[in-house]
Amino acid sequence: MTGHTPPPATTTALHEKVDALLAQMSLSEKVEMMSGHGFFAAMQEDDRVWGARPYRTGGGNERLGLTPLWFTDGPRGVARGSSTCFPCTMARGATFDADLELRIGQAMGIEARAQGCNFSGAVCINLLRHPAWGRAQETYGEDSWHLGVMGAAMGTGIQTHNVIATIKHFALNSMENARFKVNVKADERALHEVYLPHFKHCLDAGIASVMTAYNKVNGEYCGQDRVLLTEILRDEWKFDGFVHSDWVRGVYKVYGASAGLDIENPEPLVFGDNLVKAVEEGMVEPYVVDRACRRILTTQLRFARRQDPLPTYGPELVACEAHRTLALEAARKCAVLLENDGTLPLRRDKVRKLAVLGALAALENTGDNGSSRVRPPYVVTPLAGLRRMLGEEAVLHADESDLDAARAAAAAADAVLVVTGYTAKEEGEYILGDIALGADKKPRGPSLSPTPIGGDRESLSLPSAQVALIKAAAESAKPVVVAIVAGSAVLVEEWREDAQAILMSFYAGMEGGTALSELLFGDVVPSGKLPFTIARDAAHYPHFDRDADEITYDLWHGYTKLEREGIAPRYAFGHGLSYTLFAYSALVARVAGDAVEVSVAVRNIGDVTADEVVQCYIGAPAVEAERPIKQLRGFTRLTLAPQQTGIARFRIPLDSLRWRDPASHGWRLERGAYRIYAGGSSQSCLTTSIEV
Ligand code: BGC
Repeated sequence: MTGHTPPPATTTALHEKVDALLAQMSLSEKVEMMSGHGFFAAMQEDDRVWGARPYRTGGGNERLGLTPLWFTDGPRGVARGSSTCFPCTMARGATFDADLELRIGQAMGIEARAQGCNFSGAVCINLLRHPAWGRAQETYGEDSWHLGVMGAAMGTGIQTHNVIATIKHFALNSMENARFKVNVKADERALHEVYLPHFKHCLDAGIASVMTAYNKVNGEYCGQDRVLLTEILRDEWKFDGFVHSDWVRGVYKVYGASAGLDIENPEPLVFGDNLVKAVEEGMVEPYVVDRACRRILTTQLRFARRQDPLPTYGPELVACEAHRTLALEAARKCAVLLENDGTLPLRRDKVRKLAVLGALAALENTGDNGSSRVRPPYVVTPLAGLRRMLGEEAVLHADESDLDAARAAAAAADAVLVVTGYTAKEEGEYILGDIALGADKKPRGPSLSPTPIGGDRESLSLPSAQVALIKAAAESAKPVVVAIVAGSAVLVEEWREDAQAILMSFYAGMEGGTALSELLFGDVVPSGKLPFTIARDAAHYPHFDRDADEITYDLWHGYTKLEREGIAPRYAFGHGLSYTLFAYSALVARVAGDAVEVSVAVRNIGDVTADEVVQCYIGAPAVEAERPIKQLRGFTRLTLAPQQTGIARFRIPLDSLRWRDPASHGWRLERGAYRIYAGGSSQSCLTTSIEV
């Protein structure tokens, strides 16, 4: 991996500079740095177009020549102008390709800079606890290790171009509709072993900022929670960057500053004059304000001192060819082939006519329309991609609004593709009508209209009209391929046997339709792996209530839960087929110093060159405390020609095998026999054991 992290903040000169600046600032100037400014007015002026300009989100002092933080969102591209739209984060999670994610982060860093931003909200690493989560598409998956590696790659990429990356939403923000009110209860083990390690991983990699979540954790709103913001982030993890709130309802009380919140966004609704007064009246210690400003300034100056990798960041870099090619690479690598009886790849000489069914086939559907919305210069839909590849007359199209037309198209074709799934209406950021965010002068939050969009999914199944469409296609007795466009797991039991092949294609970005056509016809071999578990039954997932006031997150969800309960998933975490087969052998593991070293040989035994995502899991002895049967601790992508053998190697720090002991509030490395697993999915692994 290339890329770099900023130099340490502890240089004396830097500290002296920050001290000198603080010495020249009044209390109100310092407090001014602790919030965003001008957001509501900007939204109004811009006709409520989100991302029409960079948003001032803290920092800055004109008198002293200090630049504010100019924010833009992500995570599927820069949420400004006409930027490159990459496949959604969950799709990129399915690539298991940290190097690609780093390069995408670099592209986003460049496009942010080219559009006047120095602060990016593109790194969302909340854990997918339940597939109904409306913003599932904005994160990488259900596994903490994978989240940490992918998030760190994205953040490091963004920071390469001296744009500060923030990781969001800290913490336990894994449901949407209730995000402003829900109290998430989690005990020490669930917090430290499942819901927080990926945040630490990103901070250890040098990510310089943290955005707090809207929800409460163990009774307190995250934006004003001393346990999360001071005891964990600062005292235990030694984080020295700055922490800012999420938008509008991110903090409720001025004591949030003392608890460790450095910036309130997007306006000083709680901080501002209230904070000045609280300091003057002795309710908040003056050092709290100095501390926040020191963190903001130190971080900004560290970045400002570094040389830019590019001489200039001109507008021609936004959605430039290199970035669109990167979006295509990601779309090629993210699709997960769930099932295939040999129907795929389709052959051009046999499939002279293809029926492409479903309204989603013709829709520019890149995902959610909330804060992560990207407006690319174009989107290649599945239908457009296939027509471009096969010619207009070779592609017949009908949708679920007319099943007879769909049946006729299928009957007239040699094969059928049914494009199914969701749009921003069924899943995404929960937006009650138009997101006004106070531009209507009601300063406490979005103005509400009666037709909400997005939010947590109502169902884990496909809409019934789409199921009917698949069944209508199957009546033709032609080979039926189903593509699923969604942000996370979709149950397939109702219609699985009606399809000969199933491809999870996600919201695949502006080049999604190009990649889909190449994948279907074998120009590109599928290589994505599921970053979540697809269960056979919704009841196999943890309890989920999208209107909950309170919910408990424990150690168990996804593959760790199903394995613990002995329930077979429909498609396991890490599953994904190829147009070739891979044979695994020679799994070797040993303890070397402070790590476990694992290697495994992988041979491509088919006749096409393809990538394989090799995964390594570890299971602890679990005598001292119950542990998951196995947990992901490494993954890598190999490209192998026919009959070529590659060796996948993993170095897994012993520290990552520890469990959190609530009695001592510390970590314990259990001694004994650990099980090592390596393979092409969480359920198909070679195994061996080692003594630790
Ligand atoms: C979202 C954040 C986003 C922020 C600013 C909030 O509604 O939760 O993820 O970064 O808006 O756009």
